[in-house]
Amino acid sequence: MGLFSHFLVSFLCLITTTLCQVTEFISIDCGGTSNYTDSRTGLQWISDTGAISYGKSVQVENPYGGWLQYQQRRDFPTESKYCYTLKTEERRRYLVRATFQYGSLESEGTYPKFQLYLDATKWATVTVLESARVYVKEMIIRAPSSSIDVCLCCATTGSPFISTLELRPLNLSMYATDFEDGFFLKVSARVNFGAPSEDPIRYPDDPYDRIWESDLVKRQNYLVGVAPGTERVNTSKQIDVRTREYPPVKVMQTAVVGTRGRLSYRLNLEDFPANARAYAFFAEIEELGVNETRKFRMERPYLPDYSNAVVNIAENANGSYSLYEPSYMNVTMDFVLSFSFVKTRDSTRGPLLSAIEISKYVQIAPKTDKGDVTVLNALCAMSTESAWSNEGRDPCVPAHWSWVACSPTTTPRITKITLSGKNLNGVIPSELKNMEGLTELWLDGNYLTGPIPDMSNLISLKIVHLENNRLTGPLPSYLGSLPSLQELHVQNNLLSGEIPPALLTGKVIFNYEGNSKLHKEAHKTHFKLILGASVGLLALLLVLCIGSLFLLCNTRRKESQSKRSSLRTSTKASTSYSIARGGNLMDEGVACYISLSDLEEATKNFAKQIGRGSFGPVYYGKMPDGKEIAVKIMADSSSHGTQQFVTEVALLSRIHHRNLVPLIGYCEDEHQHLLVYEYMHNGTLRNHIHDSTNQKCLDWLGRLYVAEDAAKGLEYLHTGCNPSIIHRDVKTSNILLDINMRAKVSDFGLSRQAEEDLTHVSSVARGTVGYLDPEYYANQQLTEKSDVYSFGIVLLELISGRKPVSPEDYGAEWNIVHWARSLICNGDVISIVDPFLLGNVKIESIWRIAEIAILCVEQHGTSRPKMQEIILAIQDAIKIERGNEGDHKACSGSSKGQSSRKTLLTNFLDIESPDLSNDCLVPSAR
Ligand SMILES: *[C@@H]1O[C@H](CO)[C@@H](O)[C@H](O)[C@H]1NC(C)=O
Ligand SMILES: *[C@@H]1O[C@H](CO)[C@@H](O)[C@H](O)[C@H]1NC(C)=O
Ligand SMILES: *[C@@H]1O[C@H](CO)[C@@H](O)[C@H](O)[C@H]1NC(C)=O
Ligand SMILES: *[C@@H]1O[C@H](CO)[C@@H](O)[C@H](O)[C@H]1NC(C)=O
Ligand SMILES: *[C@@H]1O[C@H](CO)[C@@H](O)[C@H](O)[C@H]1NC(C)=O
Ligand SMILES: *[C@@H]1O[C@H](CO)[C@@H](O)[C@H](O)[C@H]1NC(C)=O
Repeated sequence: MGLFSHFLVSFLCLITTTLCQVTEFISIDCGGTSNYTDSRTGLQWISDTGAISYGKSVQVENPYGGWLQYQQRRDFPTESKYCYTLKTEERRRYLVRATFQYGSLESEGTYPKFQLYLDATKWATVTVLESARVYVKEMIIRAPSSSIDVCLCCATTGSPFISTLELRPLNLSMYATDFEDGFFLKVSARVNFGAPSEDPIRYPDDPYDRIWESDLVKRQNYLVGVAPGTERVNTSKQIDVRTREYPPVKVMQTAVVGTRGRLSYRLNLEDFPANARAYAFFAEIEELGVNETRKFRMERPYLPDYSNAVVNIAENANGSYSLYEPSYMNVTMDFVLSFSFVKTRDSTRGPLLSAIEISKYVQIAPKTDKGDVTVLNALCAMSTESAWSNEGRDPCVPAHWSWVACSPTTTPRITKITLSGKNLNGVIPSELKNMEGLTELWLDGNYLTGPIPDMSNLISLKIVHLENNRLTGPLPSYLGSLPSLQELHVQNNLLSGEIPPALLTGKVIFNYEGNSKLHKEAHKTHFKLILGASVGLLALLLVLCIGSLFLLCNTRRKESQSKRSSLRTSTKASTSYSIARGGNLMDEGVACYISLSDLEEATKNFAKQIGRGSFGPVYYGKMPDGKEIAVKIMADSSSHGTQQFVTEVALLSRIHHRNLVPLIGYCEDEHQHLLVYEYMHNGTLRNHIHDSTNQKCLDWLGRLYVAEDAAKGLEYLHTGCNPSIIHRDVKTSNILLDINMRAKVSDFGLSRQAEEDLTHVSSVARGTVGYLDPEYYANQQLTEKSDVYSFGIVLLELISGRKPVSPEDYGAEWNIVHWARSLICNGDVISIVDPFLLGNVKIESIWRIAEIAILCVEQHGTSRPKMQEIILAIQDAIKIERGNEGDHKACSGSSKGQSSRKTLLTNFLDIESPDLSNDCLVPSAR
């Protein structure tokens, strides 16, 4: 009976909410061609064809979940901005949602990356990386006016597109914050724990159609680091959710429980660090015995002040099956959010969690000054049909209209209007007098009538073009006293009356011909004229004087500015890793958490050490599925806090490239930090070059391929990652060879933060003797060019088969650079070639590598080539060595090789040893 009435109530609820909500929801199927009601949800979708006249509808392959609204998307051109306007009730709260599913790429294309704006406020950067995924952007707002604009613009790759746009009114005080006048809330995570499947929960289960994502969804750094003993629980009993945020009952009917006393999770928060609003949702859904309790504390590691409050759900929620929703209205969070709930000592049950919701406060950016917009709208109204008058919503943000210029101020002002020859018909709007930011006004060549409007307040106005119109009335006298006015063009109008004398002094370029009724002051004397002219001349001189002074100052300032900015970029490069928080690196593959016990099993208790990386020993292991792994133990985990470790792993696991050793997992148990990499069967390049037992199986072509692979890996770190990554420890033992003898770079990206924290030891701590860039060593300025230096040493090793540092080999200078440089400079490249290779190589290809290697080890970073150039040189050498081309081509290739060698060698001689003889230029091999 109870159950039945219960069922009836929820059924009725469903009916009524369906009826009243659906009419209020706005669901736009962008790119869709018809209006329809979705039978699965009862939502009414409307096509956007009436709402927007730009872009085209594109069919999407494999629409998400087979939903109708994902069968088409709308693609926009790359230029300009494209806005949808949604009607709102001022000051009412709404959830605004835009979703994006791109579908398959056409061949050779790139996935789009573009900006999404809500009014003038930057909402999100939409970066598509997977064809099948629906990217969801949600903003919770209190409507600032009777409509809002959702705009797409500024594509950096591909072109902007959108799949759906949804507007959902919220009820009463839901999502009210103290900051809503100044901030929108961008939803970063809304997770349903213990979910029955991967499907999200939304309407009609949530009458407000929020999307509650399942905790079963697998994604990069989304809910990882789950504590052992975490179990999923559910109930079919009704939950009382009538508190404040009304999470759906279905969400509250499932939860996770830490049966071993702890629940822990970690996830990335896009665009963080930031201030956030964070809610946790709890309901007791397990039957507790008489003496049983469930009490726990929240722990956010590294923030001890968050560990205090004890959560006792039943006590806080007025019994079981009832909602308790503690929250932080304003809390600062990092890019990586780690949290745990830990049971208190006197509690008999472990912690429980039903759902969380975290939203970022996004400051509302002001739109263009209202007064300015009034004038622009009046001008648009004179030509409603034309394209320029329909460029969409705000004139300045996110991108400005083609015919205006805007000030960069917080509230944008219009600085320039350019509407020459646009067939404008009517009177110039009198509101022009409020456009205080205006510096240039071009309204010439139209059919404007009426008087010249009041512009006496426009003190910034410099250039005014009103010629070739039908303006009537007098020239207002204030025109002569506008402080900034430089040019005034009013010729060929119907103006009349006396010209203000101040305009005739020569201070202002003034053109007034073709106004037959316009005349100069009747009784002017010669004296006045002369006075005027001389005053004018004096003024001109003064202006010139001040002008040149100003110019001088300006160039100075620009110089110092550019210096400063170059300084900034260089410091940026050296701290690039910390900026990576919140940056958009690649988002594919998942480095999963592997427990210590699993690793102990896989490595047979760390039985077989296969090497020693920059940070500690490396062990061989085999996972139960047969996958071979290399487990790296971070030697000094104390100097390398868990937080840093976690952040680094989060970042590292997003870096994927054919020529970088992939990270497949990690473990942070018991103060030990372990990284799990794919096992590389053929060991290090070092072993293949220097280890005499290794039979030197790498011939010259093989070495060139290895060099090419490694160079590509480094090039990717330098230019393919955003922000770029400097390896800092490029050497032959960090270049690994896989089962196919393809090279992959390892040990990149680690310990960046540890070093930043201990700056006083930084340069000493990283890098290997013999490979270390002397410039970096001397002045601690780390750039990509330091890696280039080290890579130059690797190239010299590949040619010579010798170690970088060796007193026996190189005598007093003891390093490979001086030795190789002097021999190469003397044209004696043969003397540096590995004896093992001799007789089996084309000397031309050795030269190509020798040249680039010598450039790589230039004293000054700026003289060294970029990785891209090095790759080209290596590919050149491979071509030469393979000699596939006909004789003729090989011939022309070699002469080209020689000329480029000359320039490169000359270059190097100029810098390094200007007094060496010309003999240098003639290699002995010829
Ligand atoms: C869809 O509905 C909207 C709003 O109700 C209407 O303006 C539009 O004409 C309809 N479009 C079609 C294709 O029926
Ligand atoms: C909206 O709030 C009112 C008042 O609290 C409540 O009676 C009503 O049921 C709410 N609507 C929904 C759909 O929850
Ligand atoms: C609820 O939990 C039981 C086990 O306790 C499980 O068999 C069942 O599949 C769960 N139901 C859902 C919807 O998760
Ligand atoms: C949140 O708190 C910080 C620091 O206490 C404060 O600067 C900020 O204005 C507050 N509000 C928002 C929305 O960030
Ligand atoms: C509850 O605890 C009290 C005292 O700690 C004990 O006497 C009682 O037997 C317990 N009841 C149950 C049901 O475990
Ligand atoms: C707490 O629960 C009792 C019954 O379990 C109910 O009578 C009372 O109204 C509830 N109090 C609140 C504040 O919901």
